[in-house]
Amino acid sequence: MRTLDVRLAPVIAHRGASADTPENTLAALRAAAAAGARWVEFDVKLSRDGYCILMHDDLLNRTTNGRGEVAHYDLDELRRLDAGGWFGRRFRGEPVPTLQEALALCVELDLDINLEIKPCPGRQHETAIRVVDELRRHWPAGRSWPLISSFAIASLEEVRKLGPDMPHGLLIGRPTRRALGMLDRLECSTLHCDAKHASAELVRHLTRSGRPLLCYTVNDASRALRLLEMGVRAVFTDRPQLIAEAIAARSAKQGQ
Ligand code: G3P
Ligand code: MG
Repeated sequence: MRTLDVRLAPVIAHRGASADTPENTLAALRAAAAAGARWVEFDVKLSRDGYCILMHDDLLNRTTNGRGEVAHYDLDELRRLDAGGWFGRRFRGEPVPTLQEALALCVELDLDINLEIKPCPGRQHETAIRVVDELRRHWPAGRSWPLISSFAIASLEEVRKLGPDMPHGLLIGRPTRRALGMLDRLECSTLHCDAKHASAELVRHLTRSGRPLLCYTVNDASRALRLLEMGVRAVFTDRPQLIAEAIAARSAKQGQ
């Protein structure tokens, strides 16, 4: 198991600062940094011709002005789409970012990354292979690797094989006994689960093997504080500023 050689922050901006900006765009990453986030999460899948891009859904319909399956379009076609106008007029013309662009921007903004591999159906292996390859080619030497995660076991198996130096975590809605049993085999450094399934018992179980628990998606400040008090190490949130301010207010109060 690869230990994380970078400190997790309690707040991870989910798909960037996605409550205020169009998710998985460079604007969302910039907004996360401007909101004071130190960590961002984004979703990565492949164009038809095998380039890594940021996008959550398998379909273009919700977050771009395109239609149909992401996997049916080459990168140059995806690059002509508008990934911002659906969210608001001032984001019109925001492009679908390549992974390479997102990595460069995060380095420039000094943001740590949780890179979620979100393969289109049937492309679990290929997507992980391309992600590891792009990280090797474009991530600055000497900087801690992004934390990779995925719901796709086949993708994590590729990362384990091809990126033995890259920390990765299992993403799962509800952490069943079977899922917990896979953490060793997949050499996972972290577990990421739906916040509604977090518990002190789960935190204790993971702590025994030195694995932090990260929970998605928490946009309510008091809920975030309760989870962090329980021992959850980080929450994914669309509202990084709100959650960071609540944490700072609690620390100030405890320091009084
Ligand atoms: O990585 C945490 C979270 O992003 C997982 O769910 O669907 O938002 O990618 P989703
Ligand atoms: Mg995600």
